[in-house]
Amino acid sequence: TSFFSADLPLSGKKALVTAGPTWEAIDPVRYIGNHSSGKMGYALAAQLHRLGADVTLVSGPTNLDAPHGVHFVGVTSAAEMLDACLAYFDHSDITVMSAAVADYTPNAVADRKIKKTGDGLTLELVKTKDILATLGSRKRAGQLLIGFALETHDEQSHARAKLQQKNLDFIVLNSMRDEGAGFAGDTNKITIIDRQNQAETFTLKSKTEVAADICDRIMRMLKPSGG
Ligand code: CTP
Ligand code: CA
Repeated sequence: TSFFSADLPLSGKKALVTAGPTWEAIDPVRYIGNHSSGKMGYALAAQLHRLGADVTLVSGPTNLDAPHGVHFVGVTSAAEMLDACLAYFDHSDITVMSAAVADYTPNAVADRKIKKTGDGLTLELVKTKDILATLGSRKRAGQLLIGFALETHDEQSHARAKLQQKNLDFIVLNSMRDEGAGFAGDTNKITIIDRQNQAETFTLKSKTEVAADICDRIMRMLKPSGG
């Protein structure tokens, strides 16, 4: 092995990874969130760094420490995550969006704590901007864009639709059906679906091993054909 990072497979490549949930404020003390732990995205950022890439990790709130050697950008809401991604995407060779971004956000944040008055409470929510689709529409030749899909039914057809609609190079389908898989735990069972409509299903493994499988696919796609 060599001391020089130029010898690593992803040396000279810039990578952008999103991870974790987003928190959408309701009032000064409450938010709408989700159960994403961020582990999958942090494992991806760490693995891309190990392979020599220059990695920026844009993360929603998690309990994890930023991986060593990775440029860390902490955000809270979906709108902040979009802004952070737009700041890095154009220079990114490899972008992997594993964050569990809120689909809807309160249409206004109450400036004071909402008091318990009526018997019910209705919040008005508006759709967030789809970060991945936004990047997909800006993607240039030579950039790789990878998304995740979390589905509970008609998994592969929904994932294929997202691959097309968001202009991705491949999509990682997270199985929610299998015991031990899912976005809160330490293991994942994934299927990678590519633009040739090929689906490759992996066994249940640690998120570190899943990250290595995803990076293997990325490296294969970056190799010039016949090389
Ligand atoms: N995503 C995003 N911005 C959003 C919503 C989703 O960047 N506002 C990204 C996620 O990071 C993921 C991919 O889009 O890589 C798919 O997310 P998913 O929730 O599975 O799909 P949606 O398009 O949001 O559709 P739905 O939730 O209705 O299945
Ligand atoms: Ca969603």
